[in-house]
Amino acid sequence: MIIVPGVASINLSKRLAQIINAKIANVEYKIFPDGESYVRIVDNIEDDVVIVNTTYPNQDKRIIELFLLIDNLKDLGAKKIKVVVPYIAYARQDRRFREGEAISINTILKLIEKIGADEFITVDIHKEYSLNTIKIKTRNLNAIEVIADYLKNINFNNPYVLAPDKGALERAKKLGEIMKCEYGYFEKYRDRISGAIKIEEVDIDFKNRDVIIVDDVISTGGTIAITAKIVKEKGARRVIATCTHALLVKDALEKIKSAGVDEIIATDTVENEFSKITVAPLIARELC
Ligand code: R5P
Repeated sequence: MIIVPGVASINLSKRLAQIINAKIANVEYKIFPDGESYVRIVDNIEDDVVIVNTTYPNQDKRIIELFLLIDNLKDLGAKKIKVVVPYIAYARQDRRFREGEAISINTILKLIEKIGADEFITVDIHKEYSLNTIKIKTRNLNAIEVIADYLKNINFNNPYVLAPDKGALERAKKLGEIMKCEYGYFEKYRDRISGAIKIEEVDIDFKNRDVIIVDDVISTGGTIAITAKIVKEKGARRVIATCTHALLVKDALEKIKSAGVDEIIATDTVENEFSKITVAPLIARELC
């Protein structure tokens, strides 16, 4: 088995290769002056190939590179291509919320399948039902286990695990159960046109407690910021924001910090200074 690393998953690919004792392919990436992507597989290809290519930052470029890699590898003689996309972009457009909208994640997944992927593996896709769009074998890995392992080693004062909306409740429940602490959720409403968020709080006593807000993705930081502000106003001692995919677009970090968040802890599905937890063991388990 050989691992073909995507430009945004170099470190994760190395961690994975070490665990499963696989070779890493030498791949050349460049962008032409007009903005077009170029990929070249420098090594000889083996029968079994695993592409590890996350799709952030710069989702459109990463997705095009992924398409080029799959098709090229097939053409170069790979017999079985497993496509690991630790963070799959476009997954939040999983429905036609307004008449006439594209269901973007379905389009991306159909293309991955059509171009020649034999298996598709991702981590905490926004809605697991999106995977039903394609027929190839798919797997959605749950990062909460590795997040819990990391958080278990931190000393918290009377911790409370909070989901900022109902969609994250299952995640909060799992984390709360593993950490043996209370958990709950707020109700969130988002205006589909302006993107504005409104939170309906629930009566929870946060006084002097360490609150761990858990979500699948932090994008603009709006959800975490509004949640942290409420929790802080209710007397929380410390606020930790944890998620699988920390995109942190534009001024998200400033927004989150000024809302009172003390620390952001994320996984390496998106590699940045907050990706303190690796999902490599989860992917390795799936590949072996
Ligand atoms: C929404 O359903 C997701 O689980 C996240 O809560 C949301 O996408 C986070 O986005 P943002 O950081 O822009 O509020």
